[in-house]
Amino acid sequence: MTNQTILDRIAASADYIASKSPLKPEIGLILGSGLGILADLVENPTVLPYEEIPEFPVSTVEGHAGELVLGTVKGRAVILLKGRFHLYEGYEADTVSFPIRVMKKLGVKTLIVTNAAGGVNVDFDPGDIMIITDHINFMGKNPLVGPNASELGVRFPDMSEPYSRRLGKLADEAAAEKGYRLRRGVYAAMLGPCYETPAEIRMLRVVGADAVGMSTVPEVIVARHAGIEVLGFSCITNMAAGILDQPLSHSEVMETADRVKDQFLDLILTILEKL
Ligand code: HPA
Repeated sequence: MTNQTILDRIAASADYIASKSPLKPEIGLILGSGLGILADLVENPTVLPYEEIPEFPVSTVEGHAGELVLGTVKGRAVILLKGRFHLYEGYEADTVSFPIRVMKKLGVKTLIVTNAAGGVNVDFDPGDIMIITDHINFMGKNPLVGPNASELGVRFPDMSEPYSRRLGKLADEAAAEKGYRLRRGVYAAMLGPCYETPAEIRMLRVVGADAVGMSTVPEVIVARHAGIEVLGFSCITNMAAGILDQPLSHSEVMETADRVKDQFLDLILTILEKL
């Protein structure tokens, strides 16, 4: 895609969204599997199905509704993606992260991302919430491959602080106030869609991963390219393959995400108040 085409596509989406809501969102939220309920708490929401937005991709996975929601939460203007795009659906890396570029164009300065992940660290338990301190990109894809549009960011972006330490501290404070235990750790991103093998999980543990999932990293790369500050959380929905003597399933992932959603939501609301 030429630089002009990508800039035009971003502008087409952003102009459409701006024409539907006068709100100037500063905070973007992308909520993973089963955690889209935050969208229900948005006040005065403008809800735009993805297929309505020019140039926007459309999502296909069960449990991932495809809607963009603009409104206020705790008095903060937010733009929220209810349902994200995954590489395993067959999208290109620059497509799954396209909404971040649209958010940036609309004025977003802070991005909160959440995902469901398998626990690689054996000290973790299903239901834990982990602040993502760093990531390892094992997807074999990078959304910045191709010509660089300097309007969007530099050719060789710094990734020495992909997840903001400042925002991580805020999250710690919010969790302490509420009496929630937060884990911290490194998120390894795999292409999927199959879950990992036990040998892959042992490998991930050796290289320093604490959790594993199939999303988030392309979005965070594009956000950092755009100079957006990122706060990321994994909901540990299951122990990763080979840790327990049982198969993994999407229904287990969804059930655990559902079990912790109230706490997760409360945490995010508390953080929004502090931002
Ligand atoms: N592996 C990869 N992605 C996941 C997992 C897992 O164990 N759990 C939730 N998403």
